[in-house]
Amino acid sequence: MNLCKLKSFLLNRLVSGAEVNRPGNIPNWFEYVRPNFEEFAPVGVEKVLQIGAYAGDASNWILRNTRPAQLHDVDTWQGSVDEAEFNLSWTAVEKFYDKSVVKNSSKVVKFKMTSNSFLECMKVYSLTTSFT
Ligand SMILES: C[S@@+](CC[C@H](N)C(=O)[O-])C[C@H]1O[C@@H](n2cnc3c(N)ncnc32)[C@H](O)[C@@H]1O
Repeated sequence: MNLCKLKSFLLNRLVSGAEVNRPGNIPNWFEYVRPNFEEFAPVGVEKVLQIGAYAGDASNWILRNTRPAQLHDVDTWQGSVDEAEFNLSWTAVEKFYDKSVVKNSSKVVKFKMTSNSFLECMKVYSLTTSFT
């Protein structure tokens, strides 16, 4: 098991606790793009990769509606240069994501890292899997 896989494994195991209600200060940005998902998302894809999982609204939609065998969710849970994300409590966002997504589905693999790091990890992953 390489370092990236170990990190996501441990993160997934650390999440526990009761169901939480959505804190009012965490906007649901998925609602703006839901119609596009409803029209274009393919059903029955084996693996789905989401860069920017945020609070998990798209994750939950994807799990419910496209039924993938695995969903890989990548996020820094630290926001980006996008101004809309500046005033959020990212700890609260991540906690909400953990409770509403990771805790409820064994199909989700959480990667807390930048998209660049994830893609670097995946390179190592593919090389590792090809040669073992
Ligand atoms: C608009 S939100 C995503 C909304 C989410 N897909 C949904 O449907 O609810 C953008 C997310 O991308 C994440 N993000 C921005 N730049 C990133 C990067 N370089 N690597 C990983 N995550 C990033 C932010 O932390 C934020 O959570």
